[in-house]
Amino acid sequence: MQESRLAAQQRAMDRAFGVDLLDHARCVERTPAPGNPDRPGASGVPASASASPAAPGSLAPRPVPVLGGAGSESAPPKPRPLAPLGAAPGSSTSSSGGSGVAPRSSAGGSSEAIGIGGIGRRLELQGERLSLLEALRERHAAACPHCTRATGHTNLVFGEGSPNADLVFVGEAPGETEDQTGRPFVGKAGQKLDEMIAAMKLRREDVYIANVLKSRPPNNRTPLQTEVDGCGPYLIEQLCILRPRVIVTLGGPATKLLLATEVGITRLRGTWGAWQAPAWTGLDLSVPVMPTYHPAYLLRNYTAQTRGEVWADLQAVMARINA
Ligand code: URA
Repeated sequence: MQESRLAAQQRAMDRAFGVDLLDHARCVERTPAPGNPDRPGASGVPASASASPAAPGSLAPRPVPVLGGAGSESAPPKPRPLAPLGAAPGSSTSSSGGSGVAPRSSAGGSSEAIGIGGIGRRLELQGERLSLLEALRERHAAACPHCTRATGHTNLVFGEGSPNADLVFVGEAPGETEDQTGRPFVGKAGQKLDEMIAAMKLRREDVYIANVLKSRPPNNRTPLQTEVDGCGPYLIEQLCILRPRVIVTLGGPATKLLLATEVGITRLRGTWGAWQAPAWTGLDLSVPVMPTYHPAYLLRNYTAQTRGEVWADLQAVMARINA
C-alpha cells in the first residue's frame, strides 16, 4: 500500500521533470547484491549513456585559492596551507572570512546577471581553476601516499567536470570501468548518476564529479581508513579549488569523510550538513553538503522508497542552488 503510494509519487515526479529519473529497466543490475547503503560497492560495469542536454548550470565568480609557493612539491599527509587568491573585482567575502569567497549573484551567476566584466572574470577564474586542478592532478599522481603505493589498478581517476561547477558529487572510489577509462562514474552506477544529473536539469559537464579515493581498491572493497587518510587530502584540495555552492556525497565513505562523522548514510541522507575546509588548508570555507545514497546502492535496492528519497535529496539541492 505504502509502496504503491510512493510509486505513484515517483511517477508524478518523473512526469513533472520530463525524465524517468530512476528508470530501473535501463540500467539495474540483473543480480542485486545485498544492500548496504554505507558500502554500495564501486561497480565495475558497462559504460554509461551520456546525460541528456539541459540548461547549463549557473556559474558565478568565486576566487580561487592559490596552491603552491614554497614547498609546492610537498603533498598530503602534510599538506601545505592554501593561500587565498584575491577576491574577484567587486566581490566581498562571505562564508570564507578572509579567504575571499565571492558572493554569487542572486540569479545564480547567469551571464545577464554578472555582465560582460563578470563573464571575463568568470572565464579567468575558470582558467585559474583548470590550471590549479591540473597541477593538483600531477602532484597527486607523483606523491599521493596511497595511490603511489597501491597496486592492482590501471589508471588514476582524478575527477572531471566544470571547474566552475556549483555542484560537486563525491563518490567512493573508482570501479572497474572507471579504472579502465580513468574517468569517474562511467559504469552502471555512473549511468544512474547521469540520469540523476539530467533529472536536475543539468548536464554532466555542468557539475564536477570526484571520489574519496583516486585509485580502485582491490575487488572494489571498501576504502580503508589508511587509504582515505592518504588520498583524501587531495579531494579536499580539489574542493578548495572548486569551491562549489553545494556538495552531494554519494554513500557512506564520502559522507563520513566530508562530514567527519561515523553516523551511517541511512540516518544522514536528506539532511543538510556542512563541509568545513580543514585548518591545514588555511581557508575558512564552509560548503553545504547533502548526503544521499550511492547510485550503486540505489540500483541494488531499487524500490519506490529509495528512489523517492534520492529524488527528494536532489530536489533539496536544486532548490538550494536555484535560491
Ligand atoms: N562508484 C564510485 O564511488 N565512484 C566511481 O567513480 C564509480 C563508481
